[in-house]
Amino acid sequence: MNVPLLDLVAQHETIRDAVIPAVLGVIERQTFIMGPEVGMLEQRLAELCCTRHAIACASGTDALLLPLRALDLQPGDEVIAPAFTFFATAGAIHNAGGRPVFADIDPATFNVDPDAVAAAITPRTRAIVTVDLYGQMAAIERILPLARTHGLAVIEDGAQAIGARRRIDGEWRMAGELATAGTLSFFPSKNLGGWGDGGMMVTQDDALADRLRRLRLHGGAKQYHHDEVGFNSRLDTLQAAVLLAKLPFLAGWSEARRRHAARYTEAFAATGVVRPPVTDAANEHIFHQYTIRAPRRDELQAHLKARGIGSAVYYPTALHLQPCFADLGFARGSLPATEQAMAEVLSLPIYPELTAAQQDTVISAIEEFYA
Ligand SMILES: Cc1ncc(COP(=O)(O)O)c(C=O)c1O
Repeated sequence: MNVPLLDLVAQHETIRDAVIPAVLGVIERQTFIMGPEVGMLEQRLAELCCTRHAIACASGTDALLLPLRALDLQPGDEVIAPAFTFFATAGAIHNAGGRPVFADIDPATFNVDPDAVAAAITPRTRAIVTVDLYGQMAAIERILPLARTHGLAVIEDGAQAIGARRRIDGEWRMAGELATAGTLSFFPSKNLGGWGDGGMMVTQDDALADRLRRLRLHGGAKQYHHDEVGFNSRLDTLQAAVLLAKLPFLAGWSEARRRHAARYTEAFAATGVVRPPVTDAANEHIFHQYTIRAPRRDELQAHLKARGIGSAVYYPTALHLQPCFADLGFARGSLPATEQAMAEVLSLPIYPELTAAQQDTVISAIEEFYA
C-alpha cells in the first residue's frame, strides 16, 4: 500500500462541491484583484486569530517581509530568529535590510529557546522572529517580556500554525494574537492550503495594519499616490475564494491530525527507539507536521521509500549553515541543538484523510526497520 506524505487529491474529493462553485463565482464575476472574498477572508482570519486586523498578501514569505520592512531597518540592524526553520524566515529578514542573528532551539519542541534569544540581544537588535514550527506555538510569553525590556518588535512566523493555541496565564491565546505581527501561509501543503501561493498578516496594532495595507499595494493608501515604495503583494480573489470555502473544514482537519498523532505516538513510544514529538503541555498542536527523532534517520527514510511510504526531512541544512549566510559567521557547532535536530528529524504522513490502514502500514514499516 502506497502512503504519500501528503494527499491533496484525497482532500479535494471531500470538498469539491464546496470549493468549485466558489471559484466559478469569481470566474463568472471576473473580479480577480481585491474582490469581496479577500475582505471576507481577512475578517474570518482576524476572528480566528483573535486580532483586530488580518491583511492578506501574496505568500507566507511576503507576510514576513512586509512587517519586517515596516521596521525601517538600517544597515547593521539585527533580527534574532531560529535557524531551524524554512528559509523564508531568515530570507525575509535579509530582504528587509536586516542581519539575521540565529538562536538555538529547545530540543523538546524544536522551537526557539527563549534563553538563547535573550543571550543574542545586542544594542543593534531591532526585532525577534519566533517560528511556531510543525504546528505548535513557541514560548511567546517568555519572548514578549524580553522584547518589552529592550524595545523590540516580535514577528511570529505562524506559517505552519494556523489555529494553534497556547495557554498563557490561564487563557488560550491564538498563534499570531500576541505578537507585534503574526503571519500565516496558504501554500497548498499547509493545514489551510490554497490553490497556489497566499499569505496573511495579523496584528492588533491599527497603525501597523494601515502601513501593511499600504506596503502590499505599492506603498499607497490611494491609487496612484505613493507615500513610500511598497510591493505588489495582494492575495488573488480566486485564492481567497478557495480558502474561504475550505476554512469551515480546518478545525476538523486539525482534530484529525491530532488523532493520527496520538496514534503514532502510542505506537512509537512502545518501540523505545523512535522518539515521538513532544507537545509542550501549554500548547494545542495542529500537527502541520508529525516529526520524529529517529536513529539512522537516512536509512529509515530509504527503507520507507522502498515500501512506497513518503516522508521528509524538514530541514536537512539549518539556515546558519546555508552558503548565502556564510558571512554571518555561524560555524558548524555554533547551534548544537539545531544541528542535532537536522540529523535526526523525519516527518511522517499526518494528513487528515490518512486511513487507519495507511497509518498501520507506516507504523509496521518503522517497527520492522528497528526490529
Ligand atoms: C516556517 C515557514 N515560514 C515561512 C514560510 C513561507 O511561506 P510561503 O511558502 O507561503 O511563502 C513557510 C512555508 O513554507 C514556512 O514553513
